[in-house]
Amino acid sequence: MPHAITIHQSGGPEAMRWEQITVADPAPGEVRLRQTVVGLNYIDVYQRMGKYPCDLPGSIGMEATGVVEALGAGVDTVSVGDRVGYVMGPPGAYAEQRNYPAQRLIPLPDDIADEQAAAVMLKGLTAAYLVKRTFVVKPGQNVLFHAAAGGVGLIICQWLKSIGANVIGTVGSEEKAIVAKAHGCDHTIVYTNENFPERVMDITGGQGVSVVYDGVGATTYEGSLECLAHFGMYVSFGAASGAPPPIPVGALAPKALYVTRPGLGPHTATRELTLEIANALFDAVRGGVQVEINQRYALSDAANAHRALESRSTTGSTILTI
Ligand SMILES: NC(=O)c1ccc[n+]([C@@H]2O[C@H](COP(=O)([O-])OP(=O)(O)OC[C@H]3O[C@@H](n4cnc5c(N)ncnc54)[C@H](OP(=O)(O)O)[C@@H]3O)[C@@H](O)[C@H]2O)c1
Repeated sequence: MPHAITIHQSGGPEAMRWEQITVADPAPGEVRLRQTVVGLNYIDVYQRMGKYPCDLPGSIGMEATGVVEALGAGVDTVSVGDRVGYVMGPPGAYAEQRNYPAQRLIPLPDDIADEQAAAVMLKGLTAAYLVKRTFVVKPGQNVLFHAAAGGVGLIICQWLKSIGANVIGTVGSEEKAIVAKAHGCDHTIVYTNENFPERVMDITGGQGVSVVYDGVGATTYEGSLECLAHFGMYVSFGAASGAPPPIPVGALAPKALYVTRPGLGPHTATRELTLEIANALFDAVRGGVQVEINQRYALSDAANAHRALESRSTTGSTILTI
């Protein structure tokens, strides 16, 4: 019998239990997957806490790799035995086996290993849409990215550097600053003990940045608006420190700023959109974007992986192995 991390009631890491499950035959349009590696993402924490909806009792998680074991009626985009991965879709990645919509699967190229894919897909697709669709970064532009040594951070900083941007990254410690610099940050700011808007203005000669990518939220939104240049864009894409409050539209007027709150859902809403951006990501990995798997846990030990992520002690990607 397969096992999964099951949550009966939202809460802390201790809410996650390693339990036996039964997996039904795949419904029409679904496949049954034997999963190999699960990617840990901050959204898993929000799901576990009950901030994002999940059916309970049930599992959480939005990213995994695996092998197709059985096809539901009408599935013709993959075959039994195919190596695949996925991001988003119905929660429930924290499982040895599960059913999943075939239309959302990403075929894994032979030169991308399962661990690498599980470490890079959700975070890398996010990085891809942020720099290629949300705000198209140009060479020489000043860019600020918060939590630059994190999972999305280490990938996007390399990508921004390869575009030729002037990359400024905030980090929670001097140790993380070293990691971020080694992955494309031109300048790091330890925002736990430095005033980051002041530092950004010093670094950019008083100009400010063209875009702030902010996955931290409550503790960073105000300073982020301060350090934007005229016509700059504030991209709020996450809330690791809590959700930012509503921003009054009038507050944007003095610098004619833009604000957006993008998500991976709309950027992977169709098979075409998903595969287009997944191929761009795999090309970036082949082109030299390093995928740093800096933490590994057994899936059954997911609670300790969550503790590490929430206590800000991780860098780069974390995977949960099966
Ligand atoms: N909208 C989307 O499509 C999308 C997709 C993927 C991820 N995201 C968001 O992107 C952000 C990064 O995700 P990730 O999975 O790569 O996580 P991560 O960056 O590896 O981990 C979160 C980091 O946030 C920083 N942080 C600042 N204040 C924090 C606090 N109070 N509690 C916890 N962490 C805090 C920490 O870095 P420092 O110690 O350096 O401050 C921490 O390491 C998350 O907000 C996530 O929800 C959004």
